[in-house]
Amino acid sequence: MLSSLALAAPLLLAGLQAATVSAIPTISAVGSKFFYENGTQYYLKGIAYQLTPNDPLTDGAQCKRDIARMSELGTNAIRVYHVDPTADHKACMTAFADAGIYLFVDLDTFSTQIEQTNPHWNQTQFDHFKEVLDEFQQFDNTAGVFVGNEVLTTADGSHAAPYVLAAARDIKAYRDQKGYREIPVGYSAADIADLRPMLQNYLACQTNSSDRLDFYSLNAYEWCGDSSYTVSGYNMLQKNATDYPIPIFFSETGCNTPAPRMFDDQAAIFGKDMSGTWSGAIIYEWIEETNDYGLISYGPSAKAATNTLVEDGYTRKGTPTPVSPDFTNLKKQWATLHPTGVHLSDYKKSVSSISSIECPASTKGGWAVDPSSPLPTLGQTYKATSQATATAGSTGQGTSSGSNASATSSGKDNAAGAVTVTGLATERLLMASLFLSAGMGALAFLL
Ligand SMILES: *[C@@H]1O[C@H](CO)[C@@H](O)[C@H](O)[C@H]1NC(C)=O
Ligand SMILES: *[C@@H]1O[C@H](CO)[C@@H](O)[C@H](O)[C@H]1NC(C)=O
Ligand SMILES: *[C@@H]1O[C@H](CO)[C@@H](O)[C@H](O)[C@H]1NC(C)=O
Ligand SMILES: *[C@@H]1O[C@H](CO)[C@@H](O)[C@H](O)[C@H]1NC(C)=O
Ligand SMILES: *[C@@H]1O[C@H](CO)[C@@H](O)[C@H](O)[C@H]1NC(C)=O
Repeated sequence: MLSSLALAAPLLLAGLQAATVSAIPTISAVGSKFFYENGTQYYLKGIAYQLTPNDPLTDGAQCKRDIARMSELGTNAIRVYHVDPTADHKACMTAFADAGIYLFVDLDTFSTQIEQTNPHWNQTQFDHFKEVLDEFQQFDNTAGVFVGNEVLTTADGSHAAPYVLAAARDIKAYRDQKGYREIPVGYSAADIADLRPMLQNYLACQTNSSDRLDFYSLNAYEWCGDSSYTVSGYNMLQKNATDYPIPIFFSETGCNTPAPRMFDDQAAIFGKDMSGTWSGAIIYEWIEETNDYGLISYGPSAKAATNTLVEDGYTRKGTPTPVSPDFTNLKKQWATLHPTGVHLSDYKKSVSSISSIECPASTKGGWAVDPSSPLPTLGQTYKATSQATATAGSTGQGTSSGSNASATSSGKDNAAGAVTVTGLATERLLMASLFLSAGMGALAFLL
């Protein structure tokens, strides 16, 4: 990988990396934090980069145009939801590396994602996850992968959690067996009040590190408008994450009601109350779409455009123009926020004393996973009849039940789980409904 940093890096890293030359230092997860190779703690100032639904990392020229604006914001991470593992990502990934920007990438697609309804984890899904890892492990600025995004969206969805963990277990084992570097494997959770804090704890409570996530992240829209650390509920998120044994961060944030967005929550996340626990935040999202969460736009109307990529009525290519005043508001926030965290050498002295957390007990009508039951094996499908545990099911043949991708719940008015999703819903639709419900959740929190 050639880059302008290639000359400087060996000097910086001399002694640390005798054999290989990295253009950009890799990120590793140690205990509950992320670190650069030089031992400085890494905090994400991220952007959800969802330019096109399929893969925004294949057009180097477009990536460069976007990177210039991202760097202006102070971005050091992007999140990409779907990629095509067979496409060429070198131009984009190199350009992001040159700008010091890391990638957190989802391993699934609409057809391979783990479902909440009739959850299963099978060879087809695993093979696709492997392909994405094979492609992106070659880039030093791949900082993490997600085995799922918002798989669990309702209070009664907990039986899907072991399948998320089974996917993490298998992809971690594959990563290690292939001799890839230890790219952290995590999950991005919907902010569902009924599942908190059980889901968060379940995915990190296994004593054998092979069987737990390397990081956990939350899509949270609790801080809306002129709020505060306590009014938003962030203080409770903080309370329940204080002794968390693996890195935790916001994988989506940036409530947009009321507009404009001030991004005051960033000051809390990177400030004294939370920066000792949380590893930063990813702002939802880069491109302006119907849901009004964009930081930039490529033009108001696609009608006149020729030669440009248009989907859902939005131009998805071209010169990025900041959405005002949101873009500047975020830029101002991030410019003032520079937590130093802890140095790896100091942290290592205490990391062995991080104790594991307790697995949540299964409760009647609540969290339905028996913590002592083994994780699903590859090929297993959840059987609704065998409640509370993931029991041995089909082995590899695949069951037709697995193709029912509809997750429905009647919206409870006291939870952020008021989500209705049809089988063909795109992630964006899912998110849009979560945004609405998250707002309701935040209100409910106040009542
Ligand atoms: C460690 O590396 C990061 C990323 O290159 C850099 O931002 C930071 O300043 C470095 N820290 C020190 C102490 O040199
Ligand atoms: C941890 O789990 C892995 C994978 O399941 C297994 O190979 C290993 O033996 C386990 N380690 C311990 C200490 O039980
Ligand atoms: C924090 O955990 C407690 C149980 O330990 C739970 O009742 C509460 O809802 C959680 N709060 C949040 C914001 O997750
Ligand atoms: C695995 O599940 C997917 C749906 O998630 C299905 O399309 C595929 O055929 C299944 N593969 C096997 C081997 O059962
Ligand atoms: C799919 O699941 C939903 C919700 O559980 C159910 O109402 C529907 O009948 C199922 N459809 C099929 C084809 O199994």
